[in-house]
Amino acid sequence: MALRPAVDAKILIVGCGISGIGAAQRLIQHGFSNVRIIEATSRSGGRIKTGRLGSNIVEVGANWIHGPSQENPVFQLACHYQLLSKESMSEENQSADIGGHPPFVPNWFSSSGRKLDPDVMGPAVELFMTLFEKCQEFHASGEEPMPTVGEFLKREALRIAHEEWEEDQATKDLKLALLSTMLKLECCVSGTHTMDDVGLGAFGMYKTLPGLDCTFPGGYDGLIKHMMNELPADIVLYNKPVKCVHWNNTYKQSSSKGRTYPVTVECVNGETFEADHVIVTIPLGYLKKHQDTLLHPPLPLHKLHSIQRMGFGTNNKIFLEFEKPFWSEDCEVIYLVWDDEPDLVDVVSDVKTAWIKKLFGFTVLKPMERFGHVLCGWIAGHESEYMETLTEFEVLQAVTQLIRRFTGNPTIAPKKLLRSQWFHEPYTYGSYTYVAKGCSGYDIDNLAEPLPLPGSNSQPLQVMFAGEATHRSFFSTVHGALITGWREADRLHTHYTTLSGQMISKL
Ligand SMILES: Cc1cc2nc3c(=O)[nH]c(=O)nc-3n(C[C@H](O)[C@H](O)[C@H](O)COP(=O)(O)OP(=O)(O)OC[C@H]3O[C@@H](n4cnc5c(N)ncnc54)[C@H](O)[C@@H]3O)c2cc1C
Ligand SMILES: *[C@@H]1O[C@H](CO)[C@@H](O)[C@H](O)[C@H]1NC(C)=O
Ligand SMILES: *[C@@H]1O[C@H](CO)[C@@H](O)[C@H](O)[C@H]1NC(C)=O
Repeated sequence: MALRPAVDAKILIVGCGISGIGAAQRLIQHGFSNVRIIEATSRSGGRIKTGRLGSNIVEVGANWIHGPSQENPVFQLACHYQLLSKESMSEENQSADIGGHPPFVPNWFSSSGRKLDPDVMGPAVELFMTLFEKCQEFHASGEEPMPTVGEFLKREALRIAHEEWEEDQATKDLKLALLSTMLKLECCVSGTHTMDDVGLGAFGMYKTLPGLDCTFPGGYDGLIKHMMNELPADIVLYNKPVKCVHWNNTYKQSSSKGRTYPVTVECVNGETFEADHVIVTIPLGYLKKHQDTLLHPPLPLHKLHSIQRMGFGTNNKIFLEFEKPFWSEDCEVIYLVWDDEPDLVDVVSDVKTAWIKKLFGFTVLKPMERFGHVLCGWIAGHESEYMETLTEFEVLQAVTQLIRRFTGNPTIAPKKLLRSQWFHEPYTYGSYTYVAKGCSGYDIDNLAEPLPLPGSNSQPLQVMFAGEATHRSFFSTVHGALITGWREADRLHTHYTTLSGQMISKL
């Protein structure tokens, strides 16, 4: 194996989301000068995507910095670039420990067109939160009383309702129906079709950081712009979807002039790019879809199996602007409770006719002085994927009908609508990663493992893997994605510094 100085190594990064950008930034800091990013689309940022609803800035993709405190590199960068409000940066809010669930002020509406009483519904939410926290504890204790979060939540909630609730049957049913709504909310948080797909034992692997979740007043893409400004201007090759990464010297080009590279990246348009190392930051949804063809030689079986088994589902947003609010002034989240759902369900029986029942409710965009009256509806799963196939007008009609029914006000009409369609984004195929039934941290380690595998005698670190799905405790987040980009850049740096260390010690 010929040793080359690190600065000379040719490195390609596939994907210009935050993990790819982070990897490039770190490699350049380490002194690598031959770094390029290949991106399928015409833009950088990936699942960080700021859009517009009229004059309002809205986040089609990532919205919050989850756990904005000193340990969170996204928070640090956002502070460094001065992208956050004073309130978000206050010591008090950095140390707030909310365990992943912001203490939003709720309003509840039922499908019979009533606003529900906080004193009645509050305890049901509390029960849900208590059980939810229990689910997170099994990872540390190494137990798994049931295979999935959904099954455990349902069994325990029904048991407690039966043993402890003392109201009349109608009230009990309404409280249970609210738990169905909470399950649908968790489907959005996890990005899954149903909580019955989310593994219970590994659920607590996801770690939250301290800090009261905050947003970017000027849009999340400000972070991307600032990071991109620190990279060489021509580092990204846009509109070049990668078709196949040929590694292990399997792509023989006849006109090799001297130096040969172990990896050749082949794009859909036929262009090829050679490299010593490729960092793949492609979303898990795309990997699942193209697992057989994206690499040549193909992925080793254990990596393939982990790609297949890990979860990657859909969560979409539907933004709506109103003339005036139908919610209370302090309201931060609106829950929709279906009277006919006391049996703890988070899937609908017929997607085509009843998909809208999967929408758990809305978050209210704040502050009102900036946004006016804008709601963000949340919908996960196959119902959400079906929603993507409808026209914007059909979605608007369905949501309008829904709101009229739940408020009992037949005149409410949203003025504008914008929805995301993450399942139909051909380079994402969904929203983000969850740890599915039967999966563990080893599956994430498998996803992250570079090729060739240890013990091979071919050139090390030819294909490396970063991106949100490859972080054991911060998967599904922006900070998780960023950290994995840095991790792979550091892996290369360490590789070359130890190599030169070995050379020096031999001299
Ligand atoms: C609706 C939604 C809401 C979210 N909310 C939050 C939130 O509030 N807070 C939070 O922390 N996180 C949130 N996330 C998650 C967060 O957005 C992601 O975890 C993070 O942005 C992923 O970064 P990444 O670099 O790993 O992947 P991506 O940003 O997806 O980047 C991957 C890049 O690879 C490109 N690519 C794919 N295939 C190819 C190919 N064949 N050839 C070349 N390029 C290719 C893609 O076009 C893309 O640009 C949300 C995500 C969604 C979808
Ligand atoms: C913490 O954040 C909240 C919500 O943004 C804000 O209302 C409050 O003023 C902040 N606290 C401080 C001390 O800035
Ligand atoms: C990579 O190449 C080496 C050396 O030619 C060979 O021994 C090994 O089996 C190859 N690995 C794969 C996964 O094809």
